[in-house]
Amino acid sequence: MKITKICCIGAGYVGGPTMAIIAQKCPQIQVAVVDLNEERIAAWNDEDVNNIPIYEPGLSEIVQEARGRNLFFSTEVDAAIDAADMIFISVNTPTKTYGKGKGMAADLKYIELCARQIARVSKSNKIVVEKSTLPVRTAEAIKSILDNTGNGVQFQILSNPEFLAEGTAVQDLLAPDRILIGGDTNEEGQIAIKALFDVYANWVPQDKILTTNVWSSELSKLTANAFLAQRISSINAMSELCEKTGADVNEVARAIGMDSRIGPKFLKASVGFGGSCFQKDILNLVYIAKSYGLNEVADYWEQVIIMNDHQKRRFSGNIVKTLYNTVSDKKITFLGWAFKKDTNDTRESAAIYVADDLINENAKIAVYDPKVSHKKVLADLDYLQTRDADENAESVLSFENPYEACSGAHAVAILTEWDEFVAYDWQKIYDAMQKPAFVFDGRNILNAVELEKIGFVYQAIGS
Ligand code: NAD
Ligand code: UGA
Repeated sequence: MKITKICCIGAGYVGGPTMAIIAQKCPQIQVAVVDLNEERIAAWNDEDVNNIPIYEPGLSEIVQEARGRNLFFSTEVDAAIDAADMIFISVNTPTKTYGKGKGMAADLKYIELCARQIARVSKSNKIVVEKSTLPVRTAEAIKSILDNTGNGVQFQILSNPEFLAEGTAVQDLLAPDRILIGGDTNEEGQIAIKALFDVYANWVPQDKILTTNVWSSELSKLTANAFLAQRISSINAMSELCEKTGADVNEVARAIGMDSRIGPKFLKASVGFGGSCFQKDILNLVYIAKSYGLNEVADYWEQVIIMNDHQKRRFSGNIVKTLYNTVSDKKITFLGWAFKKDTNDTRESAAIYVADDLINENAKIAVYDPKVSHKKVLADLDYLQTRDADENAESVLSFENPYEACSGAHAVAILTEWDEFVAYDWQKIYDAMQKPAFVFDGRNILNAVELEKIGFVYQAIGS
């Protein structure tokens, strides 16, 4: 079976970049990316390709190449479903904020709406691909909806989780470590798997495309994120011990990372991991384990989140303690608000929680981030509902210029590891700050010796 028309429901951080690469690498396939969010689709269609809604290095060039040729963005969801042979579901699966499983389970309402819409609209057989990260056995629910509410057409459901990381999405999609496709073990399932395999084989070496049963595929995605996040919480736990003992967490990470069984990646101590997925996926894993009565398994993974929350609070607590136990009315400058460099995404960014703690202490926060707007900063704080929006607006200002952001500050805190921060004229920043001038480096990117030579009181994580 040859795929000629793909529809992707959800034009977000996964749907947009993934489909742009498929369109670029498979000019023979028409790719329609659809979303209910009109503003987002308008931005994807913006004449100036630099205004697409997601900032990822290299993405706008690819969109420029394929858009209008075989890559289309639209809000016409029904029409795109109707026309497609293969439909990717790439909608958001946030943590539930209500009812059973509140604060833990994945909210699958958007997934179910997609399934019902596909069932209602489809007049020919379709392959439905789970691209969103989903609890293990979700395909069963999708199948039940499709088979019981559809027009009698055949559906095959595949699981094809996405492993891209933001900030490196284009590279990760062009040269993935692996592609995972889970499907039914019967003949129809194998035909569907082969159809998706052939799409990826246009640019991914065949030995990197793994096929499994659906449940292994669904669970592998949650497992991968749990393992990755666990490494960060492990090194962050060690960072606190390093601070007490005179060990240096960067040296420890280097020493253990050279053991080929451990490996050097994902051992960077930080103010805590953020991003839309690690926390939500681990909470979901914990919920699933509990729902099977596996309390020890649940507790084991929950500790990764507990450690991460502690690391964020520890960072803000240390700022207050170091600034003579009061930050009231003091200007504290945040360099960085995004959850990591090279993205404009701020979901679950450590910066939000650190700012919230400091505002509770009556600090005045000044923010500079090269890709995040003031509107987004305020929206992130308002979302926490710690205080009313007016109070947040009075407590936080954003700046277009990093030197202005730092001018008059009592302390500068590095919350994101943007490369440009390292290259700043730190003498100039020092000269314009209150004295003593403090730097709290939540990403361990600055040179301690140079900063101390200038006169800063410099504190990093884990040393
Ligand atoms: P996102 O919020 O950026 O995008 C989801 C989009 O789906 C939104 O634009 C929303 O308007 C749209 N949508 C929701 N319901 C819809 C419907 N019924 N019809 C049409 N459009 C609808 O989310 P994201 O970051 O792209 O994540 C999507 C999924 O991929 C999640 O399950 C996430 O866990 C997973 N994932 C994300 C990443 C990442 O780096 N962000 C990486 C791997 C996997
Ligand atoms: C992560 C995974 O890396 C992807 O494989 C996965 O597809 C994705 O989640 C997802 O499912 O959403 P992402 O969250 O985009 O990707 O970015 P990461 O590079 O994993 O960083 C996550 C957070 O951990 C960031 O806040 C980052 O600064 C932090 N981090 C990362 C550290 O503090 N230390 C490290 O060593 C690595």
